[in-house]
Amino acid sequence: MAKFNENFLELKESYLFSEVAKRVSAFQQKEPDRSVIRLGIGDVTLPLGKTVVQAMHSAADEMGKAESFRGYGPEQGYDFLREAVVGHYRSFGVELDTDEIFVSDGAKSDTGNITDLFSKDNTVMIPNPVYPVYVDTNTMNGRNIVFINGTAENDFLPMPDKSIHADIIYICSPNNPTGACYNREQLREWVDYALENDAVILFDSAYECFISDSGLPHSIYEIEGAEKCAVEFCSLSKTAGFTGTRCGYTVVPKAIKSVSGDGRAMSLNKMWNRRQCTKFNGVPYIVQRAAAAVFSEAGMAEAKAMIAHYMENAKIIADTMNDLGIRYTGGINSPYIWFECPFGMDSWQFFDFLLEKAGVVGTPGAGFGENGDKWFRLTAFNNKENTIEAMKRFRSVLQ
Ligand code: MLT
Repeated sequence: MAKFNENFLELKESYLFSEVAKRVSAFQQKEPDRSVIRLGIGDVTLPLGKTVVQAMHSAADEMGKAESFRGYGPEQGYDFLREAVVGHYRSFGVELDTDEIFVSDGAKSDTGNITDLFSKDNTVMIPNPVYPVYVDTNTMNGRNIVFINGTAENDFLPMPDKSIHADIIYICSPNNPTGACYNREQLREWVDYALENDAVILFDSAYECFISDSGLPHSIYEIEGAEKCAVEFCSLSKTAGFTGTRCGYTVVPKAIKSVSGDGRAMSLNKMWNRRQCTKFNGVPYIVQRAAAAVFSEAGMAEAKAMIAHYMENAKIIADTMNDLGIRYTGGINSPYIWFECPFGMDSWQFFDFLLEKAGVVGTPGAGFGENGDKWFRLTAFNNKENTIEAMKRFRSVLQ
């Protein structure tokens, strides 16, 4: 009989957002006439930009003609897109080589898939609360996880604890779920810690485009030495509305060295390339053309307009928290607002309360780890009208 991977027994029965969707659908079946506003999963609502759609159309036309049809593309992504990503990094003052960029179907897959490159006996350091994918994928592999606490006291920005050794460190900044964002000095400490411990930082920058404070770093490579210890994951999901179109990129610098158990030097860049060539056949050509269009001048202007729209919603939510005197983080350099549950409720109680009383869906903080037990996340990704209405209902059930 096939033996299954018993590490799956250690996982919660369902993935956080599937659980939320299940509860919302049960509520809607029970109360079909109630209007429900979704500020739960971070899924975008604005359509793709015109420039992106035009690029998709032209690519679809190319695929329909014998002379321009394309079959399998390079597993790492087409050069036109990898070069566009290099150009985007240059805008933060970061120089990368094209062969350090790997195009993928998004940061979610890659932050999980990267675990293929690391031995099971590494210790993984993961903040708590955190995007559940990091914990679940390492749990599936049976790795030892040490959690570092994000709390209101440290503004949900845990710093390295030099008394603990880790081999792999996950950092997400701007953070999902807390919306908190590390500054340069804080990232400097993380890079120093990683270099001292021969550790690798897995840096998720999926929300970098929401940074409005010009002093904050968009990429970990803005910190000197990070190219020797950090892999960075980014995505167009939130930058340009690609949640349903699927395209992201992972940077694996050639300068990162790893070692095998018997001390042989390995290049993480070569290993990732080998992994991708074996397990991945690349992102569709049409999608890569659309993604490259995001990095054009017109495409970036459209993306920025979308982000500005979502950040107006974030402000509407943050203003509500301010008016009601609720403690929160995020909403300034991030589309997430992370707040303390009112009335001393725990986060699943507050989830039910908000859904039942106001017809508003959020995400319970407990789904991101124990430190989120009394916290709750709302997203700015709905439209303005719904966000205003959701906050009107929020105020009326809380006052
Ligand atoms: C979230 O709501 O946390 C995100 O949508 C998750 C994701 O990007 O996979």
